Amino acid sequence: MTFRARILGAAAGGGLPQWNCGCKNCGLARLGTIPSQTQSSLAVTADNAFWAILNASPDIRHQLSQSQSLHPTGLRQLPLRSVLVTNGDIDHVAGLLTLREMQPFTLFATAGIHQVLAENPIFDALNSAVVSRETIALNQPFELAPGLTATLFPVPGKVPLYLEAGDVQTDLIGDQTVGVHLQTEDSSAFYIPGCALLNDDLRSRLDGADLLFFDGTLWQDDEMVQAGLGQKTGQRMGHMSMSGPEGSIAAFEDMRIGKKVFVHMNNTNPVLRPDSVEKAQAEAAGWIIGQDGMEIT
Ligand code: MLT
Ligand code: MN
Ligand code: ZN
Repeated sequence: MTFRARILGAAAGGGLPQWNCGCKNCGLARLGTIPSQTQSSLAVTADNAFWAILNASPDIRHQLSQSQSLHPTGLRQLPLRSVLVTNGDIDHVAGLLTLREMQPFTLFATAGIHQVLAENPIFDALNSAVVSRETIALNQPFELAPGLTATLFPVPGKVPLYLEAGDVQTDLIGDQTVGVHLQTEDSSAFYIPGCALLNDDLRSRLDGADLLFFDGTLWQDDEMVQAGLGQKTGQRMGHMSMSGPEGSIAAFEDMRIGKKVFVHMNNTNPVLRPDSVEKAQAEAAGWIIGQDGMEIT
């Protein structure tokens, strides 16, 4: 059993380029000067035959067409066994609507996230006679795909943007934002595409992991404000940024982790430009900048 992960989409919600964005990166991506990236999703397998998809992005149709290992193996036979969503954000659930073609798979999520889906009747397009929705309790290991055990754990975050009301707590601990611990017989990996803060619980959990995919939304907390794209900081969106004393690069500096990969990058993030000093800095600190189609075994 060899654990294998394929980044289906390395960008955050909106993707690169984002349809309505005229920022530097989006312009360069439209010109083809830098690679475009689709929205947040990771595919994983332990037996090289059956796969699970972590987060169903709005780009899933394109992502699957680009991923030969996930293509149909018969008329309606697929390597896909399950889909797991780590929060109710649109970039992580909208792709479920694309998967509505009467294809059996298991949809895993916490009770809180399943409730968000159940309250949105459009998701009934996933026929319950065909797609089984399984509720997963925090800290309870379960079989995600053959030979691949997953455990969900709480990560500081917030409710989906479309459910925000009143004062929003951006580092809520509960079952609305989770990370995933993936284990095979001999390897241990983590997937955490959204995280507001690396707290002590997360530190001790992640210590010693072979591989980590982590929230790389912004380089700098006020990056979108600086770019003139709005008033929201990374913290307000429930994401810790890469750089600075409070950033993820500093937070992970003294942790023992085999490979660290940034995913869920916003289109404004300078690390998405292959020749940027920020990308070089992140790499010098031991990080890999995720890309669509990148595979790690
Ligand atoms: C996020 O990661 O902050 C959300 O996906 C934002 C959104 O819903 O567009
Ligand atoms: Mn997102
Ligand atoms: Zn942009």
